[in-house]
Amino acid sequence: MTIRTFIKTTGSVALGLFVATLVVRGEESAGKAIAVRHSSTDDTATIQVAGLEKPLVVLHITDSHVTVADELEAQYQQYSSRMDKSYGGEKEHWRTKKKALPAAHFLNLLTLAKDRNVDLIALTGDIVNNPSQSSVRFIGKALNDTGIRRLYISGNHDWHYEGMPGSDDALRKTWTQERLLSLYPGRNPLCYAVQIGGINFVAIDNSTYQVTGEQLVFYEKETARGLPTVLLLHIPIYTPANTSASASSCCGNPVWGWETDHGFAIERRERWPKSGNLKSTTDFVDRVGKTGNLIAVLAGHTHKARTEKLSDSAVQYIAQAACNGGSRLVTFAPLMRDKN
Ligand SMILES: [Fe+2]
Repeated sequence: MTIRTFIKTTGSVALGLFVATLVVRGEESAGKAIAVRHSSTDDTATIQVAGLEKPLVVLHITDSHVTVADELEAQYQQYSSRMDKSYGGEKEHWRTKKKALPAAHFLNLLTLAKDRNVDLIALTGDIVNNPSQSSVRFIGKALNDTGIRRLYISGNHDWHYEGMPGSDDALRKTWTQERLLSLYPGRNPLCYAVQIGGINFVAIDNSTYQVTGEQLVFYEKETARGLPTVLLLHIPIYTPANTSASASSCCGNPVWGWETDHGFAIERRERWPKSGNLKSTTDFVDRVGKTGNLIAVLAGHTHKARTEKLSDSAVQYIAQAACNGGSRLVTFAPLMRDKN
């Protein structure tokens, strides 16, 4: 049987079977080919992976934008009020249209995780509106109460107090250390990897829209293990095929920079630089498209469910924002061969 004979599509957004190509750059291998079949809807994905021994179910939650303010936060109000107000009221559920506070939508998703007996919850940032102690404590307790394993990576709002002096890099470093560390028990918040059920989950914090040289080296080291790899990011990878309005907010967009930054004034943050992307960012995006054993990217930031083919093996799954009750239930399963 040739590979072509068992290409098949299933689901409403089916992407068929892809067999990655071994890419070699000089002495470097960008990952051994892994056969993968993707199918998805706006709130589910099934990813069949050659060599996987048993299914693994992940609930992907992103952009819950929870605010739980208390008196401890009074001194930070000047930095948190706009976002707290934006997400302080009830939000319509994207499916049922029922209104609830973002915190209630978040708790409902954790109930879903328990009901579906998922193996893992993957959180890809903007889980809180700012690094308030009370909000982070609420999230941490709710996650701990599920008893379900979790992986978290930061979004641009998780560490940002609007109008606070300092570069994005400096503010991320400060507030990650001060407030968010409990969400990353024992892990490096900028980049870490955890192997679960034969899959290497690699989390990289690109919430400044950039990837550092250290993070790029980490990505290369982790993908060199040869395991099927799932990348967790807040900001989606830019692809030329993405012509939506959200493309300017994606990681590695060549036009990213001073002229395309339309949000710095309202978010009261450092304006994107005139020099544009770091070389390590463009190298990272290039490498993602050439990693044969990268099977999926789970991302958020743009708040709308979307899937995009990134390479012969990898599909990027952006989940609907959890502040509107969105999530994606991702099932990794052993690859089934067609009978014909
Ligand atoms: Fe968000």
